[in-house]
Amino acid sequence: MNSSRFPSARSFHHNPDAAPDSPEALAPYVDNGEEIFTTDRYTSAEYAELEWDRMWTRTWTLAGLVADIPKVGDYFKYDLGRESFIVVRTGEQPDAIKAFYNVCQHRGNQLVRNDFGSVRTFRCFFHSWEWEIDGKLKLIPEAESYPPNLIADEPPLSAVRCELWDGFVFLNMDTDAEPLLDFLAPLPEHLAPYRFAEMKVVKDLQTPWPCNWKIAHDAFIEVQHVHAVHPEILGFINEYNVQWDLYRNGMSRMLLKFGEVSPKLADRTTVNDGLEGLMSEVDLDPGAYPDTAAGVRKAIQQAKRSWATSRNIDYDMFTDNQLTDDWNYSLFPNITFNAHPEGLLIQRFRPHPRDPQSMVYDLLVLIHPIEDPDYNVPGYMGVEPGTDLSGKTRPKRRIIEYGEDGLGFVINQDAIMMGYMQRGVQSRGYKGARYSHQEQQLRHWHKELERYLSGEK
Ligand code: FES
Ligand SMILES: [Fe+2]
Repeated sequence: MNSSRFPSARSFHHNPDAAPDSPEALAPYVDNGEEIFTTDRYTSAEYAELEWDRMWTRTWTLAGLVADIPKVGDYFKYDLGRESFIVVRTGEQPDAIKAFYNVCQHRGNQLVRNDFGSVRTFRCFFHSWEWEIDGKLKLIPEAESYPPNLIADEPPLSAVRCELWDGFVFLNMDTDAEPLLDFLAPLPEHLAPYRFAEMKVVKDLQTPWPCNWKIAHDAFIEVQHVHAVHPEILGFINEYNVQWDLYRNGMSRMLLKFGEVSPKLADRTTVNDGLEGLMSEVDLDPGAYPDTAAGVRKAIQQAKRSWATSRNIDYDMFTDNQLTDDWNYSLFPNITFNAHPEGLLIQRFRPHPRDPQSMVYDLLVLIHPIEDPDYNVPGYMGVEPGTDLSGKTRPKRRIIEYGEDGLGFVINQDAIMMGYMQRGVQSRGYKGARYSHQEQQLRHWHKELERYLSGEK
């Protein structure tokens, strides 16, 4: 690893005064080389098979939320590629949660079929073998009809490793993997002020996309495409002067300044509609708007701090930059977080069980519950008008067909790209990806994937 830093044009440090161990510190430069990456990773069944055997079965992935299984016996189902898992609450203690492969030990039927449910026991739909929620065998009907040796071990449900972080449940099929918090470090420390466990789900969408899961994931760990795909947001996002930080285990982040005009726009002085929109969301009096765009980000930071103080909401843990900016994290292998003081957008990219050119995209929005009817949840959270923000009702998961509206304006713009990208990368005329420094998170991520596939990890 090279410990020098990028020349300033290749990365930006939003707070040069940050202490080296602070969450705002610029991470040491990681030299990931300059190779052009092969395209079979997006198209080939053999590559997908290797990816499954060497990466998916050996890494931590986000299965779901602790809050979705509040009572003993509550479970959720988590499907990942060809596997399916059950995550169940087994006791009252906050961490009394176990995970099992979703499979009956008799002849292999799947035990649960719904995404969410509540049970006293898991009873198979086929011949009624039954297990306690902690996985112990409860009953084999007509046990006398089995050779005693075949059932002498009283087969329990097949357990899978399950660990928790701030309200999230992660699973890992590898019994030898490092503990979850070590795997994620230093992300949990950076993200502690957001208090994810206290947030509530306000949006839960799922949609199939006609592309390899990595095509979609790649598109969400860079913002170099914003000027072309999302030009409407350039007025209030600086998507060029980005702080990129690369961490171990393929993790990375970009710190994206909101409330600042993109350098790609000619007019960076006028307080444009986008900036006015952000200021109105924090109830900044139009009379107090700064004269030029340069003052807007600071004005929003101050308004948010005084808004929080007036409502006894603790924003002391947040830096000023965290109050305005998108702290945008890539959790290897298939999760992105857009963290804001108001809430969190989670994107999850899952492979299709068989087809390397299909995937499942999940979008979950969590917010800190609030009962104030005058509260404007910022537009970047993607919350529909009229959504209950009290946290008292958990919206149902909504399945959206490809091409159907519903993902929100910006993500719809991304979704349209997916089919074209998949068709393009499989062309004989395409020679592989050439990443810029603005795409350094992709290079870092793909290098990590290759470490799994080559057996180095
Ligand atoms: S397959 Fe489950 S009881 Fe037979
Ligand atoms: Fe995008």
